[in-house]
Amino acid sequence: MPLNIIIGAQWGDEGKGHITDRLAHDAAIVARYSGGDNAGHTVAIAGEFFRLHLIPSGIIHPGVVCLIGNGTVVNPAVLLREIDDLAARGVDVSPSRLKLSGGAHLITPGHIAMDKAHEKSRGAEAIGTTMRGIGPAYTDKARREGLRAELFADSEALAAALQAHVALKNAALVGGYGEEPLDAAVMAAEFAGYARRLAPYLVDGPLLVDEALRHGQMVLAEGAQGTLLDIDHGTYPFVTSSSPTAGGAMTGLGVGPRMVDRVIGVAKAFTTRVGSGPFPTELSGEAAVRLRGTGEKPWDEFGTTTGRPRRVGWLDLPILRHARRINSLSEWVLTKLDILSGLPEIPVCVAYELDGRRVESFPHDLASLARCRPIYESLPGWEEDIMGVRRPSDLPDAARRYVAFVADSTGTPVTFVSVGPGREQFIEMI
Ligand code: GDP
Ligand code: IMO
Ligand code: MG
Repeated sequence: MPLNIIIGAQWGDEGKGHITDRLAHDAAIVARYSGGDNAGHTVAIAGEFFRLHLIPSGIIHPGVVCLIGNGTVVNPAVLLREIDDLAARGVDVSPSRLKLSGGAHLITPGHIAMDKAHEKSRGAEAIGTTMRGIGPAYTDKARREGLRAELFADSEALAAALQAHVALKNAALVGGYGEEPLDAAVMAAEFAGYARRLAPYLVDGPLLVDEALRHGQMVLAEGAQGTLLDIDHGTYPFVTSSSPTAGGAMTGLGVGPRMVDRVIGVAKAFTTRVGSGPFPTELSGEAAVRLRGTGEKPWDEFGTTTGRPRRVGWLDLPILRHARRINSLSEWVLTKLDILSGLPEIPVCVAYELDGRRVESFPHDLASLARCRPIYESLPGWEEDIMGVRRPSDLPDAARRYVAFVADSTGTPVTFVSVGPGREQFIEMI
């Protein structure tokens, strides 16, 4: 059994947690390979909602081991809160089930302070980050000044690393941004406590994954964020600071591409985005509220991590073609099809008009993207509520046609359609 990868195809929040939970049933390990607690993944079981930020969405399946892989950045305070919350709800999050790769990087209050100061200094050009310290933690990793989780196993090395870290951060915070300095002693005491609790969770992540794969077990890599938030292949600079795409799963877990079987692209039946940056099919006013909802339903389009209303728009096929190509997707999971029920017709962006030309691919530079105008094709809508549908043949004709249109326009099959947040609310299409 191989490595299967779940990838967000748009700007995040496609429903990765939902399909990860569904597919985790057959996995030995579910592993996060990139990002940190900027992610917010929702798993809904029997009307109970679990919102996960760092712990992989396989955790609700008792037999599955969950790994926070090397490529992630981990705020230990958030991880411990998540462990405690899940334990209080009866989920086993002991070190036999949850593992933290020693090579994962730590997020400190210094990274969070830097994220806030940097966003403030950008003014109107702010990225709209989640303020979780993600960018500064990856910056330190690339500068070879980061703190790895393995420090939790060595209290002296941790204390020394934190001292150097606080000195560097204070120089930047006070000297560069005119902010208040951090207190090194306070941070040292705080992290000594985290180390005591988290040391038992430490493992050699790549070794753990390799052992499972060599024993013929399936490993499920759970993407965070989405293809258009990828630092290389997204709408730079309005991206996150890691590689949520399929390549990121290789470096983030420490496995090679020969192990990979399925690369599953998760796409919402429309498009959403949180934070700043271009969005060709974005809607405003009443039309936007129709897709976003008003916040009453748990699945309405408000950020799982920050609570911000998500920007919404129609489905964009150039984006899906881009995601298919960058990740060599084997298939689609199309989520939230139920939200489109009741629309008389559904516009889908099939291509862009760029400087008087029709283009089908997503432009690689932001300046071109800003000049792109969506070209829409309208598909017929359907009236019926489809949240209870479980077989393709029970879908209204127009809904089946919508799904087939996505598959045909991207040359990639749709294997699952999701029609609600619940574990059982999937239609297996093939
Ligand atoms: P992720 O970050 O990709 O895991 O997605 P989020 O959890 O941030 O956002 C997806 C939201 O949509 C969550 O509230 C899910 O419970 C919900 N959801 C997922 N699939 C469906 C679906 O098919 N229909 C509806 N109505 N909600 C869904
Ligand atoms: P999941 O895994 C949606 C966005 C932020 C911001 C940009 C950079 O739930 O899909 P960062 O804090 O990462 O430096 O912010 O990326 N962003 C997300 N948007 N879903 C996410 O995660 C996101 N993680 C980061 O809103 O625009
Ligand atoms: Mg999310």
